[in-house]
Amino acid sequence: MNIYPIPDKSREGTNCTNEEYLKLYEASVRSPDEFWGDQARKRLDWFKDFTKTSELDYHKADIKWFLGGEINVSYNCIDRHIKAGKGDHAAIIWENDAGTFSRSYTFNEVLAEVCKIANVLKTQGVKKGDRVVIYMGMIPQLAFTMLACARIGAIHSVIFGGFSQDAIRTRVLDSQARVVVTVDEGMRAGKPVSLKHTVDKGIEDVDIIDRVFVFKHTGAAINMRSGRDVFIDELLETAASTCEAERMQSEDPLFILYTSGSTGKPKGVLHTQAGYLLYASMTHRYVFDIREEDVYFCAADIGWITGHSYIIYGPLANGTTTVMFESTPLYPDASRYWKMIEKYKVNVFYTAPTAIRSLVKAGDEHVKKHDRSSLRVLGTVGEPINKDAWVWYYRTVGEEKCAIVDTWWQTETGGIMIAPLPAANGTKPGSATRPFFGIQPVIVDEAGNEITDPDVSGKLCIKHSWPGQMRTVYGDHERFMKTYFADFPGKYFTGDGAHYDKDGYFWIEGRVDDVLNVSGHRFGTAELESALISSGLAAEVAIVGFPHDIKGEAIYAYVILKDNVESDETTRKNMKLHIKESIGGVAVPDVVQFVPGLPKTRSGKIMRRVLRKIAAGEREQFGDITTLAEPEIVQKIVAGSIKA
Ligand code: WT7
Repeated sequence: MNIYPIPDKSREGTNCTNEEYLKLYEASVRSPDEFWGDQARKRLDWFKDFTKTSELDYHKADIKWFLGGEINVSYNCIDRHIKAGKGDHAAIIWENDAGTFSRSYTFNEVLAEVCKIANVLKTQGVKKGDRVVIYMGMIPQLAFTMLACARIGAIHSVIFGGFSQDAIRTRVLDSQARVVVTVDEGMRAGKPVSLKHTVDKGIEDVDIIDRVFVFKHTGAAINMRSGRDVFIDELLETAASTCEAERMQSEDPLFILYTSGSTGKPKGVLHTQAGYLLYASMTHRYVFDIREEDVYFCAADIGWITGHSYIIYGPLANGTTTVMFESTPLYPDASRYWKMIEKYKVNVFYTAPTAIRSLVKAGDEHVKKHDRSSLRVLGTVGEPINKDAWVWYYRTVGEEKCAIVDTWWQTETGGIMIAPLPAANGTKPGSATRPFFGIQPVIVDEAGNEITDPDVSGKLCIKHSWPGQMRTVYGDHERFMKTYFADFPGKYFTGDGAHYDKDGYFWIEGRVDDVLNVSGHRFGTAELESALISSGLAAEVAIVGFPHDIKGEAIYAYVILKDNVESDETTRKNMKLHIKESIGGVAVPDVVQFVPGLPKTRSGKIMRRVLRKIAAGEREQFGDITTLAEPEIVQKIVAGSIKA
């Protein structure tokens, strides 16, 4: 396959040429401690220098970086830039849902807002190590609240605004939070989203919450439970706008973010202070090749890791102007992103393949009517990007002048792991190309042997630790061990399949476990199945993914109904509604098919391979099904299958 060359625009003024990449990469894997130790001292401001760079035991999943060091993340994201004379420089530019209002906050202003919220939290008794659950839409106060937690050492747990009341409840209970911060309503594509109301339902019978802080956004009338709920804006009016940054140990927790796995309920991925911040900021600087005056726009939601690392922590640690966006790519029409890029003169833009595909579909005229000459780097993340979408991004959006960076990483990795650097390597559509500094990806076979031949698929593992790596599953270290370190001892297992080509470029093939990737969002099939079972309507459920034009992957549910439950539209609707309430709208299956049975082997294992084929439209070729207990069930399911 042809390599798309490095664009001229990327070469001028770059932070990293290919020579530099090769040199630094070699050093980073030869002596990781020396490499990361130097970077940590050079790129972060420490209250107290660390005494030991790392202490790692991959067999016990015991991971520590920068031991003995003391640091504060919010200080590194705000105060030090002010000290360096950037107080009046734009830190966050926020645009509202309707596109009728925008506001730029300087580093000075961010500091004042963050300190006020920190002081209010402190008055409430929130201390170092306490968990604070945050359920807000994409408004600037969300960023300030996260940074306020970081300032006083509280551990934030942000819940995506599209998640349901049950998701709030389980996360509050799992993290044993005492405080929730929310907003009256969010706005999304012209419609209000009743966030406070959802919090109320989520914590109705949860007595560990003693304070709910509510920001006013739309001003809608909402219920306030007396003694528990308070409007925070009123308290902020009188709160002091300075607040000392807490001295945190490098390995103190910074945040919890829940993500789905192949088994059980979502796990609380725990990231810590110094290592996470160093890794988020360094990857941000190198992968997007950030320059001093850049305006950077990541269109993700802060409810996901991309928003944490690449809207808030990475860019702000680098002193970069970061654009925060409340709406969606199609509202009010498909020109929204390009309009914003023109308006704010965006240099670097970062989005997901699913958004790109929906914009391809909307037509080129939306792109072309806006000036995009400020753009230099275009990033993508969340799922493998198909060639057509990649080429469209490159030609139509970038006019062949911008570098495309396809970035592979995970909630667990804290930051980008495999991606091109704009001025260091050419690109191939669909390949995330080469590993970042310090990252040693390997492809292994079923037995755990490293595959050394190009073009042979296997499971993607990472050999040595890196500072941004998650440290544990909150409250369940055993699960952390089992999920990531047990299958291939001595390596971190990613859950993805991959291969590399003869140029050493990596190609990610998608999940090899029972995890679906719907529009870049992760859901475990087990989690979806148990949610459907809990509707009380289903006796048995099997969920699989199937290819979808826009979402990448969509959800197909095969359901054996309980006796006496009607197999009609109402039941189908109720099941979808149940998923919406127990997980969230993004997890609602595209197809719910009622089936008389499931294809099971004699030992009772569901043959998902057959169900995936039927969901993808296959009607005849199912491979070997002779080991099924009742092979004839396959044709019965085919007969009733539903085309999405
Ligand atoms: C999973 C992680 C990392 C932030 C967004 C998703 C898939 C992610 C790519 C990419 C191919 C990708 C993987 C990974 N994925 N980026 N560039 N190419 N696949 O974070 O929810 O933790 O999901 O997303 O399957 O394991 P996440």
